Amino acid sequence: MSKPKFQIPTGMHDILPQDQVYYEKILETAKKVFSFYDFDKIDTPILEDANLFIRSVGQNTDIVEKEMFSLKTKGKDILSLRPEGTASIVRAYIEHGFSSLPQPVRLWYYGPFFRYERPQAGRFRQFWQFGIEILGENDPIIDVQSILTMYAILHDLGLKNLMVRVNSIGDDNCRPLYRKALVKFLREKSSSLCGDCNRRAKTNPLRVLDCKNEKCQETLSQAPQSVDFLCDSCKNHLKEVLEYLDELKVPYCLDSKLVRGLDYYTKTVFEIETEKDGVRSGALAGGGRYDNLVKMLGGGDIPACGAAAGVDRIISAMKEIGAKVSFPSVPEIFFAQIGPLAKKKSLPILEDLRRANIKVGEGFGKDSLKEQLGKASRLGAKVVIILGQREALNNMILIRNMQTAKQVEVKQEDIIKEIKNVLKEQ
Ligand code: HAM
Repeated sequence: MSKPKFQIPTGMHDILPQDQVYYEKILETAKKVFSFYDFDKIDTPILEDANLFIRSVGQNTDIVEKEMFSLKTKGKDILSLRPEGTASIVRAYIEHGFSSLPQPVRLWYYGPFFRYERPQAGRFRQFWQFGIEILGENDPIIDVQSILTMYAILHDLGLKNLMVRVNSIGDDNCRPLYRKALVKFLREKSSSLCGDCNRRAKTNPLRVLDCKNEKCQETLSQAPQSVDFLCDSCKNHLKEVLEYLDELKVPYCLDSKLVRGLDYYTKTVFEIETEKDGVRSGALAGGGRYDNLVKMLGGGDIPACGAAAGVDRIISAMKEIGAKVSFPSVPEIFFAQIGPLAKKKSLPILEDLRRANIKVGEGFGKDSLKEQLGKASRLGAKVVIILGQREALNNMILIRNMQTAKQVEVKQEDIIKEIKNVLKEQ
């Protein structure tokens, strides 16, 4: 087969009809949990001022350095397709004066996000996320509620072997000390680290810990750990987070290498993945506390915490374990028509059936009865209603029970009542 003239852009994918059930199931499950935990929905534009992301996600992060889809408008503004949701939610929180509402403000969102990543398994250039942000509260219980909300959704979707990885990367008070110790270590080990690590050591040293190169990982296993540098306030915060997690009996581990790829985090960071026999799925959800971001973007001194989950990755994990999703119900009734007059009269009859909440399949475009009955049996319809030329002229219609092959002729005006009777007999 020759290549089609137009193909989908690299790193993007169509969501085909057969996969829609997964997206619906995930959204429906997430909405139930959001509603229980009292989150309100917010939608923000897909495009934002590029500087919003540069300021919040960080100039030296992969997302800003390499992965933003940016464009210049006719008015010469530089806008970017949103690579993540937190920056936009904080912008909206400040812009709409949400700090005057009772705090914390709890918001959830869902939609497509864009990162110009190197295409590989689980990494798309357009992907779907649902997320939460809780603004205006610094109690560690909020960090755990963010973890729990994501964990509960993944659990309710039937995913097994979930593992929460937690770390604390400190705050403005203690992180500079950690950063200094890490930079010193990275300088000393530069000959056993890859080029990327050496470059990052200068621009964003915490991100070096994320390197996937095995040799680097070996060297980095001796790197100083952020938890050893925490000030008293950050140490107590982490201690409380872990105590709440113990109480919840959520499976978790402390991961000293977890730093996350966005610059706005303070204190708690976390990711949730599946982990079985040492095989890790990669992050299905991730988040953390960001106590400086609202102020950095021009708002007040508002602590906050949140998380987001990758819908496309969750679907792969669900498919891998054969998680249950219910496919849409098939119509029990099929409508067949023969001849031009019957075809003309068929649309209003179908409309009556739709208004009566009766799901009906039809075979418009196929004029032979044989073809239409073939489609009816492929769909598994139990009853076929047939409108032929003679019935169309006499305002009558045939109802055929596909199991018994019994056929009755009824008045068109009685069709709803008669169909309901036939369905009751099934
Ligand atoms: P993130 O870790 O960059 O965090 O993204 C959250 C989740 O989105 C990831 O765990 C992953 O499942 C999914 N994801 C990210 N990039 C891709 C991609 N290229 N293709 C497919 N899935 C992807 C954030 O975005 C933060 N805004 C989360 C947050 C909210 N932190 C605080 N509040």
